[in-house]
Amino acid sequence: MKEDIYKEEENSSDISMDQKIRPERLIDYIGQKDVKENIEVFVKAAKMRDEVLDHVLLYGPPGLGKTTLAYIIANEMGTNIRTASGPAIEKSGDLAAILSTLEPGDVLFIDEIHRMPRFIEEILYPAMEDFTLDIVVGSDGNSHSIKIDLPPFTLVGATTRAGDLSSPLRDRFGIVSKLNYYTDHELSEIIKRTSRVLEMPINDDAAEALAKRSRGTPRIANRLFKRVRDFALVDQKDAIDLEETNKALERLKVDSYGLDSVDHEILNSIIKKFNGGPVGIEAIASSIGEEITTIEDANEPYLLQKGLIKRTPRGRVATPLAYQVLGINYQENLFKDI
Ligand code: ADE
Repeated sequence: MKEDIYKEEENSSDISMDQKIRPERLIDYIGQKDVKENIEVFVKAAKMRDEVLDHVLLYGPPGLGKTTLAYIIANEMGTNIRTASGPAIEKSGDLAAILSTLEPGDVLFIDEIHRMPRFIEEILYPAMEDFTLDIVVGSDGNSHSIKIDLPPFTLVGATTRAGDLSSPLRDRFGIVSKLNYYTDHELSEIIKRTSRVLEMPINDDAAEALAKRSRGTPRIANRLFKRVRDFALVDQKDAIDLEETNKALERLKVDSYGLDSVDHEILNSIIKKFNGGPVGIEAIASSIGEEITTIEDANEPYLLQKGLIKRTPRGRVATPLAYQVLGINYQENLFKDI
């Protein structure tokens, strides 16, 4: 069983370190060129007009920097950020409480906004559109609705699944940006930046080797960097070199494609249990004991992007490359159609 570096629980020192290595301004944010350039223009225009920035929806796989961008937007606008998480907003009063304490110009960041219950979404519509809060007061027979004015604010919503948002909610975001996986070069630049912030030098070839194993994801790149840094420290190295990096990656059992243990289990399941597919996501999930949403949000986009699996109308299919990665002879399955 591989050690699962990607899903480890973060301890409090990791969390404060994450705050330290998170860029605070757009100029320090590496990659996502189009998104960055557009946001730069919209922020500038909003400031020139002395208005709040239009509501922003950021979507894409986990770990690509949606939260970081939300903080950067608040910094660039020169405002405060209030944060909330979709699944934690359970009652309409929860959202009303957050909205009614906003200050003019604040950024309200709602992470995993697709997991907010539908009846709560409806409170957001007038809040986003007219900056008003409609609340119902009184009991059953004698209830009426009152309108409360809210200060102008910017809602920044983040989601791994834009398709799960209702269209009335999606339509109320004036700016919709998709974050994509990073290139190895961008990840290597992020690793070098982190190395400067944490004051542990890393050689270029070592940064590139780490980048290649990071599944296009800065969160993973930074986690791998932190662990390699631990190995270097214990081995009394004052810089991270390729030898130390390879040793650490081997010890962490991160394969040369950057696939984690869940990725391996998914591929193994499709190939060995379901004869290469096609197989439905539900069957894969139950065969490896993982949540369907974890597979769909965290693993599948990367496996698809790397050409390791394909989606067909009848389910997921492992490609010849997946067999190669797992060291399984593809000839055995030559009679299958892909
Ligand atoms: N740390 C995490 N994501 C980053 C990014 N896109 N640019 C710079 N540092 C980061």
